[in-house]
Amino acid sequence: MKRYLMTPGPTPVPEDVALYMAKPIVHHRTDEFKKVFDETKQLIKRLFKTENEIVMFASSGTGAMEAAVSNVLNEGEKAISINAGKFGERWGKLIRAFGGVNLELTYEYGDYAKVEDIKALIEKNPDVKAVYIQASETSTGTFHPIDEIGLMLKEKYPEVVFVVDGITAYGAIDVETDKWNIDIGITGSQKALMLPPGLSILSVSEKALKKIEKSNNRFYYFDILGELKAKWGNYTPAVSLVFGLNAAVKKILDEGLENVFKRHKLLAKATREAVKSLGLKLLSRRPADSLTAVYSPEGIDSSEIIKLMKSYGVEISNGQAHLKGKIFRIAHLGYFDKADILMVISVLEIALKKLNANGNFGEGIKRAMEILSE
Ligand SMILES: Cc1ncc(COP(=O)(O)O)c(C=O)c1O
Repeated sequence: MKRYLMTPGPTPVPEDVALYMAKPIVHHRTDEFKKVFDETKQLIKRLFKTENEIVMFASSGTGAMEAAVSNVLNEGEKAISINAGKFGERWGKLIRAFGGVNLELTYEYGDYAKVEDIKALIEKNPDVKAVYIQASETSTGTFHPIDEIGLMLKEKYPEVVFVVDGITAYGAIDVETDKWNIDIGITGSQKALMLPPGLSILSVSEKALKKIEKSNNRFYYFDILGELKAKWGNYTPAVSLVFGLNAAVKKILDEGLENVFKRHKLLAKATREAVKSLGLKLLSRRPADSLTAVYSPEGIDSSEIIKLMKSYGVEISNGQAHLKGKIFRIAHLGYFDKADILMVISVLEIALKKLNANGNFGEGIKRAMEILSE
């Protein structure tokens, strides 16, 4: 059966990128590799809209999150983490794991961080050293107001290091790293970058580097300064993935960054409007353009919908934590186009019909077709 992967990572890999990665492997301590490595970092700067340094680790995205905590925060130092979902919760766990004092702002799943709450918490705790947040919280499909938060920090608390996990944002949604005052921006290869898992990427500002220079926390492999000092990277880089990243980012830049963001916006709008036309409710109060989280109809376990869709070859994701069985998540970040949305909405409609939960049969795909033929 032909498979359609519409989960929020890993995401489909374009054929040309996959073929580029199939090139014969090269040794990493060579000028040949260094040329690609350096060029790829420059390409990432364009994607991130930053002049900051770029560091890559051979790890999943969480490795970069860990580096952004262990390198920045010393034991006993205070940091604010935004917990509005499973990945925000991970910031708190990391801060505690490295001996930091975690001042957590918790929001209901589907809600978003409020700039005033962060400001008020720093006012009460003027010794806060960093703020940790997601751009897009993947467990709820929510986009936090990163621009507002970054600009508030720049104006009121310029010493605070602003760390943004953009793992399901960079390359799908316009994240203005420098303009929005993001000191550390993070992504992973298996999302909008259209690659297999295995690479994590960080942009690091001069301000963050100054803080990192004073670090006395514990880390070894995830050494940001070490990576920047080493000509080829400290250890063996994920050579094939770096080649793939080079090809993937060129593909994104060839399409044009703004066109890529517009495409994601359109696919997100079609998905959201289609499910609403089916009488379904979105989870998020501030939906991200990278994925759509939808409540399952009353009395239907979302696992049933997911299972039925899988019998058609279409893979979408369940909810996480207490939302497992309550919601489903359709991803549209990375290598996706209009036809993918028409396909996923049709199959969703069929699954709902089989479960006797599609009173509006045909209305979802009709709405998607209207939007996607505009
Ligand atoms: C927003 C966000 N942060 C962190 C992660 C963790 O990344 P990884 O599974 O690559 O470690 C994910 C993965 O889905 C994510 O979506």
